[in-house]
Amino acid sequence: MSLDNLVTDEQTAPVLCLPHQCEFLSDAWLEEARRFFDTHLSRNSSLPAFSITERFTNAPPHLGFDDNIAQWSVCYDGSAIHLGRAPAPSDVKEAEGKEAEVKNAEVKVEGDYQAGLFMAQIVGALAPQVMGRGLRELQHLFGQGALRSSGPTLPPAVARLIGLFHDHMARITVENPDIAHRARALGVERHVREVEEHGYTVIENAISPDFADEVREVARRAVMAHDGYQLQWMLYHGLEMERLVQNAPLMTLMDASLGRGAVIASISAIVRGPGAGSIPMHTDYSMIPEPYPEFAMTGVGVWALEDWSEASGPTWIVPGSHRERRAPRKGEGMDRGVPIEMPKGSVVYFTHGVWHWQGDRSEAGERVTIHSHFNRGILRGLEPKRVDVQMLHRNPPRLGEMLGEDDWFDKLDARGRDYLRAGHMARLQAFTDRQLQTLLQG
Ligand SMILES: [Fe+2]
Repeated sequence: MSLDNLVTDEQTAPVLCLPHQCEFLSDAWLEEARRFFDTHLSRNSSLPAFSITERFTNAPPHLGFDDNIAQWSVCYDGSAIHLGRAPAPSDVKEAEGKEAEVKNAEVKVEGDYQAGLFMAQIVGALAPQVMGRGLRELQHLFGQGALRSSGPTLPPAVARLIGLFHDHMARITVENPDIAHRARALGVERHVREVEEHGYTVIENAISPDFADEVREVARRAVMAHDGYQLQWMLYHGLEMERLVQNAPLMTLMDASLGRGAVIASISAIVRGPGAGSIPMHTDYSMIPEPYPEFAMTGVGVWALEDWSEASGPTWIVPGSHRERRAPRKGEGMDRGVPIEMPKGSVVYFTHGVWHWQGDRSEAGERVTIHSHFNRGILRGLEPKRVDVQMLHRNPPRLGEMLGEDDWFDKLDARGRDYLRAGHMARLQAFTDRQLQTLLQG
């Protein structure tokens, strides 16, 4: 069977996730929310009354909301649950003795859809520091006013239920599949175009300086515990690494150049001190025959965990060298290279077999980097995959996608191929291709 047969007709509403996943605030999301509250409230009849209304503007158009405003509410009056698209009523007159509690426990959340989705994908609502750090990164990425909430602190039993609900939904809520809409919402539309034109781009301040410090500490500690220079499999060194690897702006560039279902090739850390660079001019295409294909096979994001200047020994790149569609010959291209200078918390992304090397470091101290290397989903990774069900459980589907959980490779059994995943990835990629063209055409 050709995968083309599995692509949804453009006239029908696209289904862009697997059956056990959903898009934020879609009808499927709302149905799962209803199932959650029905199940949990039937077990706990003594819960105080509460109501929550969330309203997000600038939702992706394919979800079909009027004026692209996505809204939902849940209201518990002490005896029954009310869940739907309309705002929760503020004058509920329900179970006796509960009316005042509903009014007092009325919470409202408003903001931008992509910002809401950013928080909606974070698992760990009841774990120490997780939501606080998530909120810090949200405000860094989208600004202070991107999400606004009002209302009282929820009673502890209600807060616990909402925390469990949040995590349950976060585990199944996929990234916004409309890459053009997402790139605009995340402010990386220009960067997607730059990658096509120059073979690389820099997203400045993609994470907060505090997060950069946290990642640097994790990376340095892990590398020093081994050979003191370089370490692979950095994904498996804790929550900081799991969050970094799923960084939404960087992953949007990965999606644009490598397609959906791109897999981790390797997540590595390098610690280096002063001296000459130790990685000479090269491309990241190994064993790929020349001429290289016109589409990108692999992409690397290098995270700056300190400020990068020419003196700090940054990556050097030869802009436009991806158009050569071959590896550099001995001594070629150094005169056309540019040093990547960027502030702490930025990431340089390069792809398409662009030429690059590690520069000399004239400053004192150490440069610590994380190299987030992905391959197109039809390729193998460099690191063997180690899919840990607990890691998947504390993350949104984005992490599973990059570990190969959503595609059809390695899923064949005696009964045949996994056509569910094959069809899903074919539809998702067809939608991505269409939306990417609208972005690239301006
Ligand atoms: Fe490289």
